[in-house]
Amino acid sequence: MTSTSTAYDVAAVRADFPALRAGAAHFDGPGGSQVPRQVAHAVAATLTAPIANRGRLTEAERNADDVVLAARAAVADLAGGDPGGVVFGRSMTQLTYDLSRALAAGWGPGDEVVVTRLDHDANVRPWVQAAAARGATVRWADLDPATGELTPEALAAVLSDRTRVVAVTGASNLIGTRPDVPALTALAHEAGALTYVDGVHLTAHAPVDVAALGADVFACSPYKFLGPHLGCVVAAPSLLETLHPDKLLPSTDAVPERFELGTLPYELLAGTTAAVDYLASLGGDDGDRRARLLAGMAAVEAHEDRLRERVEEGVAELPGVTLWSRARHRTPTLLLTWADRPAAEVSRALAGRGVNAPAGSFYAIEASRALGLGDAGGLRVGLAPYSDDDDVDRLLEGLHAATSRA
Ligand SMILES: Cc1ncc(COP(=O)(O)O)c(C=O)c1O
Repeated sequence: MTSTSTAYDVAAVRADFPALRAGAAHFDGPGGSQVPRQVAHAVAATLTAPIANRGRLTEAERNADDVVLAARAAVADLAGGDPGGVVFGRSMTQLTYDLSRALAAGWGPGDEVVVTRLDHDANVRPWVQAAAARGATVRWADLDPATGELTPEALAAVLSDRTRVVAVTGASNLIGTRPDVPALTALAHEAGALTYVDGVHLTAHAPVDVAALGADVFACSPYKFLGPHLGCVVAAPSLLETLHPDKLLPSTDAVPERFELGTLPYELLAGTTAAVDYLASLGGDDGDRRARLLAGMAAVEAHEDRLRERVEEGVAELPGVTLWSRARHRTPTLLLTWADRPAAEVSRALAGRGVNAPAGSFYAIEASRALGLGDAGGLRVGLAPYSDDDDVDRLLEGLHAATSRA
């Protein structure tokens, strides 16, 4: 099947998601997606098969080892990276704290780290605090509140030959902005800095290629792309070899295990592999898993973009509503505010109709403040691979009803 002949069968996709039978229209995917039964089965199968600590002696040891190696291969295929540089942890936040401390170990006064006002706080505060612990300086790349863009010029303005790391998002979980990451990372590399790209939101919505993005470290979270609740990073093993996080004396110093403190959640790793396989299945039958993933994510992107345009057209007819998602290149993640009522009130009204669209700033607190929305943010409408036209109809009806109510 070629990408042009791939018809995206959303009804077949929806049939794989038991949670959808509860009846809600889910626009809450940016906070965490629903899960296909294939992922749940993989988790259960791992927990009910013989399992032990990783090893090659017994079947139970081999099962644990195989699950870890399979998950590294799956995430590497998803991101276009090296399986030997895939690290798993409890969440992207935890991994970013750990890696920021490891990367900052060599910093001192005069060194600089760049963070952005577009990013989720998980790719901001760990760097701010790591810098503070080392006496290093934090420089902020600004978001343009009028356009929602984070431009190469904004980054260039704060780079210097003392910049050690540039932490930037692949896509905003608040307003969907997809900055020109290759341009941003090229500037960072010219300045001699490493790049740490938050791919948590991007990975759920688009094909990803860490090399093309110029991401030295790329972080993502399987629970945003139909998988279970954990986090992962993808980096070159040679880069990970240079970092020395605190670890227990008897635990291995091998990369990537050096960064994985304690016993990994084998069942969630199996679920992660199943989620990656599921996304690959959306790309037809041709080619290896990487090729099918690229086709599958392109199909997801096209499907979600079509629905996003429908939502945007409907929202444009609503009086007194501001749409903050305006960047030229963006994910299907829309932030709305009302001139005459809090977004939380609209979220409550929608929830009463079985339409799940939360209100808040979703930890993208710097972005929310930069837009002038304070800590309250707005109503977030996020599309997912299982979203369909009926969901959009229900959303627009609910928004009309909530907006016209005095
Ligand atoms: C863009 C972005 N980055 C980072 C995170 C944090 O991910 P985790 O929950 O895995 O720590 C989120 C979660 O909402 C996110 O949307």
